[in-house]
Amino acid sequence: MDIVSVKDVGKYEGKDVKLRGWVYNLRKSGKIWFLIFRDGTGIIQCTVLKNLVDPEIFEKKTTLTQESSVIVTGSVREEKRAASGYEITVKSIEDVQVADEYPIGKKEHGPDFLLSNRHLWLRSAKQSALMKIRHTVYYAITEYLNNNDFYRFDSPILTPSACEGTTTLFEVPYFEQGSAFLSQSGQLYLEAGIMSLGKCYDFGPVFRAEKSKTRKHLTEFWMMDAEAAFVKHDENMQIQEELIRYVIRTSIERNRTELEILERDIEQLQKADAPFKKVTHKEAVDYVNSKGANMSYNDDLGTQEEDLLVEGSDVPVFVEKWPAEAKAFYMKRDENDPGIVLGDDLLAPEGFGEIIGGSEREDNHDMLLKRMKDEKMILDEYQWYLDLRKYGSVPHSGFGIGLERLIGWISGVRHIRETIPFPRTIYRLDP
Ligand code: 4AD
Ligand code: MG
Repeated sequence: MDIVSVKDVGKYEGKDVKLRGWVYNLRKSGKIWFLIFRDGTGIIQCTVLKNLVDPEIFEKKTTLTQESSVIVTGSVREEKRAASGYEITVKSIEDVQVADEYPIGKKEHGPDFLLSNRHLWLRSAKQSALMKIRHTVYYAITEYLNNNDFYRFDSPILTPSACEGTTTLFEVPYFEQGSAFLSQSGQLYLEAGIMSLGKCYDFGPVFRAEKSKTRKHLTEFWMMDAEAAFVKHDENMQIQEELIRYVIRTSIERNRTELEILERDIEQLQKADAPFKKVTHKEAVDYVNSKGANMSYNDDLGTQEEDLLVEGSDVPVFVEKWPAEAKAFYMKRDENDPGIVLGDDLLAPEGFGEIIGGSEREDNHDMLLKRMKDEKMILDEYQWYLDLRKYGSVPHSGFGIGLERLIGWISGVRHIRETIPFPRTIYRLDP
């Protein structure tokens, strides 16, 4: 007899199969009871009839518990009313392990309780759906890049210096050097990679000792950094737009069921697969101030300002051409205005905030050196980075996607702690 997954039972209609998984739920009524079974690929109802099974199998209705692990043998029957389209008529059930009383029940639990039980919470329908969407988003990003000649290039996690400012660095003891820092973004290393490969990307965990307690900040999150030689600011944004639109399309195509479990407004999400909007930082400031904000032309955008900028927009909004003061040292100056750098933030609609940060990079050695000196950076640590501007420097650009922010928007989940298997925040390091 074949061992099959719930997603494949349709191919076995009328046949006997073995299913291996967990008891999602039990429903009992007299001469018949139902084992709602899940195995990671789907959920299916298994019907146990008194006159069809041995008495000890029928009695499992009193011994089996929610989340017990079981092997069910039975025949596949079409059932139009079932979500999966099929049901199992049980012949036998083997307990693998009968579960203790499951702590996550039908009643509402607070977020702290659920996060402390994250190892179990991950099994619930919504959390499982989120992990499947994460899988799709991860692969859709890499598919797009692989199809567009970007090479995967793994940047290091243990680094001697900062990429995104020294205030959010995690320090770890490191042999004779004394200490190392966990990477905040692989960008600087990718800039070396493109001089060998033309276009490349990395994708992995990055770390920021963020004191922020918002629903958009984790201390460990996943970033995809992409970088390309001979790409300038406008083309950089074009790549970001194409990539995000590909991810939206792919997620809707592959994860409609999961998006429905999460009650995502799929039609609304679909609308984001259209040309994105663009505003300069200056236009953004003028706009939010006209709506009652009080920003100066050198300020970064706060959550409220970001919300104002996407209000009423179905598509993401680029905020480009930022004041140099508000952005990192590596961004290239605008030829027409030395106070402005060619950076862009991509804001997701529906109030999900910044999902991408990118820029054209300063490719002139002396300009970069001056900016680094102005920022009082420790030049020794960045000699290799400055070198890249001495040996065949070229215009180049890149960007970084925060994976969890992107998943949050796609799945419509407001707090990004649910978009990663085991979230890390200032208050939480376990489980
Ligand atoms: O805007 P950021 O800081 O840009 C960089 O790190 C560049 N070096 C990337 C590059 O050009 N290769 O971070 C990129 C994205 C943000 O837009 C946001 O989506 C996400 O990373 N992000 C966070 N996500 C979760 N928790 C945090 N604490 C985050 N900080 C940034
Ligand atoms: Mg940013």
